Amino acid sequence: MSVQDKVAVITGGSSGIGKAAAIELVKQGANVVINGRREQALVEAANEIDPTGTHVAYVAGDISDPQIAERLIGEALSRFGRIDTLVNNAGIFIAKPFTDFTEADFESVLSINVAGFFQVTQRALTEMLKAGSGHIVNITASGTTEQPLKAVPSVLAALTKGGLNAATKSLAIEYADKGIRVNAVAPGITKTPMHSVVETHDFLAKLHPMGRMGEAQDIVDAIVYLESAQFVTGEILHVDGGQNAGQW
Ligand SMILES: NC(=O)c1ccc[n+]([C@@H]2O[C@H](COP(=O)([O-])OP(=O)(O)OC[C@H]3O[C@@H](n4cnc5c(N)ncnc54)[C@H](OP(=O)(O)O)[C@@H]3O)[C@@H](O)[C@H]2O)c1
Repeated sequence: MSVQDKVAVITGGSSGIGKAAAIELVKQGANVVINGRREQALVEAANEIDPTGTHVAYVAGDISDPQIAERLIGEALSRFGRIDTLVNNAGIFIAKPFTDFTEADFESVLSINVAGFFQVTQRALTEMLKAGSGHIVNITASGTTEQPLKAVPSVLAALTKGGLNAATKSLAIEYADKGIRVNAVAPGITKTPMHSVVETHDFLAKLHPMGRMGEAQDIVDAIVYLESAQFVTGEILHVDGGQNAGQW
């Protein structure tokens, strides 16, 4: 199924995977509304996604803030008339030994990765229910959740992204008979501004059985596949060079 004329809301659409997804969806004929906290980054991303501004809009602000989530959904409806797809992509990652995590780390990871998901998903789903159709894709994580890596201790990623994997299945079951599909893409370590220190890339590449990091386009390809996969819901699609398959 084509994404032509579909309307997609993408949180964290100003950078990395979210921006790459927005570029691809617009290239394939969709309209997108992107979100992130930094307005200037959104302006620049929107210009990259569609220099004419016809198929892109943005809302700046913290997605864990209910008012920002409300504005994001409102912008999609007022600008493009509906919401077909929500890509829950905004997220942060902090790796450190468990006992080193601070209260601030805990607050920020829970807030962005979990509250952000909750606020925008509840509002998008309400609109999808009215329409009787929709698709939600949660960008979770692979190696830090189901096959934790000794070399990258990151329990808050496991807690939040593992929670999102579970929530994906839970929502998929809850809404399967309402025309709404819910899936997840679980990336391996992917070359985005989240991992901007190039000197770490050799080390990070070795944390995948295939011996390389992911590219943003690898993740985008999975999002586009799920968008077209009308009989797929509740799927956690690992795009991780084999990390989730087991030990190596
Ligand atoms: N790259 C990887 O190796 C990797 C691996 C597994 C999973 N993931 C997941 O993939 C997703 C995208 O990551 P990425 O690598 O593309 O990261 P990125 O390049 O750092 O992009 C993150 C995006 O999220 C936005 N964002 C962060 N906090 C936000 C908040 N509170 N409210 C609204 N927007 C917020 C950022 O914009 P602002 O900073 O302006 O807010 C930015 O647009 C994340 O959920 C991440 O956990 C990434």
